[in-house]
Amino acid sequence: MQSTSKILSNDDLLEASKKILKPEIFDFISGGSGSEWSVKNNLDIFHQIQIVPRVLQKSGTIDTSVSLPGKNLSFPVIIAPCAFHKLVCEDGELATAKAAAKCNTILTLSTMSSCSMEDVASVSNNDKWFQLYLFKDQRITEDLVRRAEIAGYEALVVTVDLPAMGMRLRDIRNQFSLPKHIEAVNLKKFHLSDISEKSEGSKVKEHTDQQFDANIGWDTIDWLRSITSLPIFLKGILNVEDAIESLNHDIQGIIISNHGGRQIDGVVSPIEVLPEIAKMVNNKVPLIVDGGIRCGEDIFKAIALGANAVMIGRPVLWALSVGGESELESLLTRLQKELILAMRLAGCNSLQIVRDRGFSLLAGEKITNMKWKEMMMKMENNHVSENIKITPSARFFLKPI
Ligand SMILES: Cc1cc2nc3c(=O)[nH]c(=O)nc-3n(C[C@H](O)[C@H](O)[C@H](O)COP(=O)(O)O)c2cc1C
Repeated sequence: MQSTSKILSNDDLLEASKKILKPEIFDFISGGSGSEWSVKNNLDIFHQIQIVPRVLQKSGTIDTSVSLPGKNLSFPVIIAPCAFHKLVCEDGELATAKAAAKCNTILTLSTMSSCSMEDVASVSNNDKWFQLYLFKDQRITEDLVRRAEIAGYEALVVTVDLPAMGMRLRDIRNQFSLPKHIEAVNLKKFHLSDISEKSEGSKVKEHTDQQFDANIGWDTIDWLRSITSLPIFLKGILNVEDAIESLNHDIQGIIISNHGGRQIDGVVSPIEVLPEIAKMVNNKVPLIVDGGIRCGEDIFKAIALGANAVMIGRPVLWALSVGGESELESLLTRLQKELILAMRLAGCNSLQIVRDRGFSLLAGEKITNMKWKEMMMKMENNHVSENIKITPSARFFLKPI
């Protein structure tokens, strides 16, 4: 384990992780689909949005707490579900769960975790959510739900953006498969845990495409609702129409996500669609956003655009690879400190103030376009203009210069 004293930023963490991990494992974590344009765009988008601070706001006390269904968090960062933590850290998800508990945040455990959901539950009394993939064989899905209930998981995060796995070219080139000692242990009783065999391309993709159901629909969510009373968060929503539709299906939260740019390449960044979704969902359910969030300022921007909380994926794995549980604790502490500083420097004492001030705290071409879109929606909804019906093509031509 190397000295972590110089890790002050995400760039430091990434560099340290790259030095430690085997190239094919670093690629599995850090890569995305296709040309990886979307992975890059998830990061770039934050640089295209600037903060416009307020001053003289008596920012001595900063409150970063947020309440989500059944849980108050001291800061709005949740650990995104990521498969196979043992690839980067011997203790795998056990280390993640312990760090999350120490920092009073939620671990979302992946269906494809390398420690079993029962073992993870046994090391931490803190809140945990279980991420659920939907299998072709519904008995597997139902078994996972029952076990999550019994083990004490507080919510199901149902991932809906993976009817098939994206073309992750790094994994295909590396003919990526799991080392023999790492397994998708939650699937052991169905004899589906071993993903170690070598294949032509990515064994992980082959396994996923064989087992996950591409035929899921809104009726699948209704079925899930009928078999469990756990809160359901849908993860992988990007289209505002889907966000609106989800409200008809008794779900308790939406996670706006493009799977970290690992599914469709060229997909919109979650941050770009967040304001429109926030507007339409209108606080009916909490909104969580992920993809490219790397520092406190990014969290600030996501909250100002309408998120209640954010999730982080890759940085968790980079931190685990560099220094296990303690480095993950450092990452979570650093993010909270950065957020507090960003809020203080921008003159916002609570997350509610950041959300309420919204667009007025932000600038940049993207923001101008988002504000414009919001104005158009208002006009359409309120019929402000009685004579002009704003058609989609009019929207295009009326874009600001
Ligand atoms: C290595 C890796 C494994 C992932 N595994 C899962 C998974 O099992 N289930 C899931 O819903 N999302 C999974 N994701 C997506 C993350 O939950 C999250 O949406 C994404 O990583 C957020 O982007 P970020 O990495 O830029 O923070 C995975 C992401 C990575 C990088």
